[in-house]
Amino acid sequence: MERTFAMIKPDGVRRGLTGKIIQRLEDKGFKIVALKKMRISFDLAEEHYGEHKEKPFFKPLVEFITSGPVVAMVLEGPGVIAELRKMMGATNPADALPGTIRGDFATTIDENVIHGSANEADAEREIALFFRPEEFVS
Ligand code: PPS
Repeated sequence: MERTFAMIKPDGVRRGLTGKIIQRLEDKGFKIVALKKMRISFDLAEEHYGEHKEKPFFKPLVEFITSGPVVAMVLEGPGVIAELRKMMGATNPADALPGTIRGDFATTIDENVIHGSANEADAEREIALFFRPEEFVS
């Protein structure tokens, strides 16, 4: 069964959106097979967003993602990688449609509430980065 990595970012946790977002994911039918609230270290943030190292937004992005607790999880379900990205909406909330998580809960690209793996390779890499095998329950 397909798995993906999802993370409610510090703005989502700070604004008390964790329950609402998880509700949507469960309502859709995705199974949460691992979940934890955590503070991301600077090193983990740099590794997670490594592909954006040369981008102008890299430093603020790392500062933002380490600015407060996140809720990290692994979701399981048919087509979950692409389905989660659909449910999240466009990276820039200004372009995200109403009904999507970013369309309904976010306004700016630098604080856009949720992360979801972009593809199968990223999902595998990010799951291994955030979770140890013994943290899975299904
Ligand atoms: S890009 O531009 O195609 O590389 O963008 P993307 O692959 O969608 O992911 C970029 C991640 O960085 C976050 N972020 C920003 N992106 C673009 N511009 C600005 N200014 C910016 N600030 C932050 C964006 O939310 C993506 O993070 P994740 O966690 O993957 O959603």
